[in-house]
Amino acid sequence: MTDDDPAVTAEGAEDADTAVRRDRFSGGPARAFLSSLAADAAIFEADLAVDRAHTVMLAEREIVDDAVAGEILAALDAVEAAGHGDLDGGEDVHEAIETAVIDRIGPDGGRMHTARSRNDEVATCIRYRLREDLLAAAEATLTLRRALLDVAGEHTETVMPGYTHLQPAQPTTIAHYLLSYEGGIARDTARLLDAYERTNRSPLGAAAFAGTPFDIDRERTAELLGFDGLVANSMDAASARDFLAEGATACATLATTLSGLAEDLVLFSNKGFVELSDDYASTSSIMPQKKNPDTLELTRGVAGDAIGEAAGTLSLLKGLPRAYNRDLQRAHASVFETADDVREAAEVAAGAVATADWNEAVLADAAGDGFSTATGVADLLATGGLPFRTAHEIVAAAAERVADDDAPPAAAAKVDEAARTVTGEPLSAYVSREEVEAVLDPERSVASRDSAGGPAPDAVACDLEARRESLDADETTLAARREALADAARALDAEVSEYV
Ligand code: ARG
Repeated sequence: MTDDDPAVTAEGAEDADTAVRRDRFSGGPARAFLSSLAADAAIFEADLAVDRAHTVMLAEREIVDDAVAGEILAALDAVEAAGHGDLDGGEDVHEAIETAVIDRIGPDGGRMHTARSRNDEVATCIRYRLREDLLAAAEATLTLRRALLDVAGEHTETVMPGYTHLQPAQPTTIAHYLLSYEGGIARDTARLLDAYERTNRSPLGAAAFAGTPFDIDRERTAELLGFDGLVANSMDAASARDFLAEGATACATLATTLSGLAEDLVLFSNKGFVELSDDYASTSSIMPQKKNPDTLELTRGVAGDAIGEAAGTLSLLKGLPRAYNRDLQRAHASVFETADDVREAAEVAAGAVATADWNEAVLADAAGDGFSTATGVADLLATGGLPFRTAHEIVAAAAERVADDDAPPAAAAKVDEAARTVTGEPLSAYVSREEVEAVLDPERSVASRDSAGGPAPDAVACDLEARRESLDADETTLAARREALADAARALDAEVSEYV
């Protein structure tokens, strides 16, 4: 025993004399390094559910008799009531819970581990836990999408500058801008749901990797735990962690979408286009006049962690041979944390979007900056019969003369001058002055771009309708997943209560 070895201090790793380890393989000086017990707090509830489902199945298959199953299940209730913090050391939560059951009811507690291994047990626990995290993250995307659609609905006619290369490019509307993010986040919802579908499969019953001679019922434990089927091949079931990589990647992709939205809103706050609600801002400890968009900066920052997590997970998995290897113990805890951080970032972004105040006057003023209606003028001249390239040349010449504060008539006069320089003819040879002034007006410029998915209020209204329907459908899908998990948890409770 090395209990007084100062090198061995990790929480929960102190007691080597568990029912599973006995005196050998206690870990010696490496015991703390070997133990995942502290991090396993994240799968404490999952392990109890897995133990219960497995025990019920063992009793149903008469591998363990009903009375012993009842004792084991009652002991598991007591272990749950005492909490993860009460577990008395061990390599991991699986071993510690088994030890706690044996401590309570004696050697019969050891029957719980019949026909399984910690390899299929931990694989089941982390799928059970991660599916919750993925659902919660997906639900947060729905909240954000709802906020984006609601605010967009209020601003289908509010013009704002649109940028490429961060330079004023063409006027658009707040609704069109916000819908661009709603579309991206809807795909993030879909990616999280895809990851959920592949995560929510049961590896239980794979045992160490090579199955078991006991007459177990894998379908039954899967059903009791709310899984939508099995990971069939037992070696695949015990070894596979690609679902962790997929979940981490789905979270990283969502976080990346959020970081773009956050960055835009930080920039827009700086330009006075938008003001965050005080709830989503912070101030300086020394400069009391400051209102800083800290929540959005943190949202932007979460993407860095999430990308690191996705890369880290794949790096850990790369080149691992079949079947189980202890490296895997390090794969999941940080994915749960990342999923949690990304969910929180999505919720915060939703709150910030829902409560932000858009400054319509400042936006309208800035919408025409940088001669942002120029493309519309070129389009108009081309419609009037000029080759587009000549039209482009005229507008390029005009761009050198048009100033941000030129009203449409002044700007139109400068376009006319440019036309005369480039073609030797006045604008009126191709289009009327009124038409030119109209396209130079940001609002009318926006209204003219009514191609499908474009910013014209009619096009956006059409898109909004479709986006709302697709959000409703995703809400129904996610609610069904939640309900299925809650049903399974109730069914497991009911089965357990037959024995205790
Ligand atoms: N704590 C371990 C993990 O998370 C459990 C599996 C241990 N299995 C083994 N064969 N050593 O991966």
